[in-house]
Amino acid sequence: MPITDQIKKLFKSNLKTGYSKWKKTDYQFISPSNKEYVYQWLWDTAFHAIVLSHFDTDWAKKEIKNFLLGQWEDGFLPHIIFWEDGFNLPHWAYIESKLSIRPKTTALTQPPALALAVEAIYERDPDQSFLLEVLPKLVKYHRWLLENRDPDQDFLISIISPNESGMDELPSFQSVFGFLGEDPTRLHYYYRKSDFLNHRYGFNSKKILDKDYFNVEDLTFNCVFAESSRSLSRLLTQIGQNEEAEFWKEAADKCERSLLKKCWDSKDQIFYSLYSKSEKMAKVKTIASLMPIFLQGIGKEKLTSLINKHLLSPDEFWTPYPIPSVAKDEKYYEPGDTPFYKIKLLWRGPTWINTNWFIVKGLRKHGFFDIADQIVDKTTQMVEKEGFREYYNPETGKGYRRENFGWSTLVLDLL
Ligand code: GLC
Repeated sequence: MPITDQIKKLFKSNLKTGYSKWKKTDYQFISPSNKEYVYQWLWDTAFHAIVLSHFDTDWAKKEIKNFLLGQWEDGFLPHIIFWEDGFNLPHWAYIESKLSIRPKTTALTQPPALALAVEAIYERDPDQSFLLEVLPKLVKYHRWLLENRDPDQDFLISIISPNESGMDELPSFQSVFGFLGEDPTRLHYYYRKSDFLNHRYGFNSKKILDKDYFNVEDLTFNCVFAESSRSLSRLLTQIGQNEEAEFWKEAADKCERSLLKKCWDSKDQIFYSLYSKSEKMAKVKTIASLMPIFLQGIGKEKLTSLINKHLLSPDEFWTPYPIPSVAKDEKYYEPGDTPFYKIKLLWRGPTWINTNWFIVKGLRKHGFFDIADQIVDKTTQMVEKEGFREYYNPETGKGYRRENFGWSTLVLDLL
């Protein structure tokens, strides 16, 4: 079956529709998978819409618009919306949401990728009415981030939980908890601890960041924020909002400048996320350390260091099926899946297709077509052999965990 048909089939089988009593609205969205991930996620929605923009822009617009129905009054966009009514939510839904007998959305957010998707849709279907409908909502969200998540006003957004990076148990967060061990039970506890504390402060960003127990200027979040703000800016000029457009272009530039200056470790020649008010570096080499390749203004020097010293190093990220979520020479690197009798930890080594998407896009932006093609080639091989799985073994290409996983269809956008 041609890949587009496979994707259509997958999206149809992951489609959730119904009437939400709490929101008093019909809903329709593609869930990341049919097991466990049966709700609507923020950055997954963006990835699904980018893929849809290749063959059904109306459907792509619907995905985005449906997600925006879940926006809070103050502009906040949650990372998960639980559209369906009923009391069958998993325990983590309660941990990640404000205290309630039945949470409607989480109180955490996720890398702000929606504007990237809106731009991808608009390029293929220049529909101004769509922009007029969604841009004010996205502007409100980006503003919310600056107003609530940037206490030191350097335009680097702080996240308040590992989940907000989109990379649940990425080892670099261990520096933040002060636990550098590998025992899965204790790790599981530490990765949830910030959300238990977030409950105590009612998920109030200002109070939480002031307390400083989890205050991370995260590389992934901020690379997406900067480039999304650029998309927002370009789109705003399309509807004549030039002043607002200028503001987001400048915000993107400031965010990028701070990131390039503060997160670059000149000794290791790589980027690290920052944590706490004193902006310490979380020194573990992960896929997030390569995310600045996606930035428009990364600059030649840092870019070539990242590519030659790290991405293309077989001891770090250049495995047979790149790009692993943790560098191979880190003690945390675990290319295989967690055995069933152990607590599941994500983002501890396997290759994920959404992060390959960011890196390939970045490499192409900067003219590194050959390396980009090699990654796309390996990504395609994994999908052809194993199907659209949640993640893959960076050494063997074996696919793991959820099947028919939504964002692994991003390979279509890369081909
Ligand atoms: C996992 C990923 C997260 C994603 C979610 C739904 O929790 O870490 O980034 O959004 O699954 O696919």
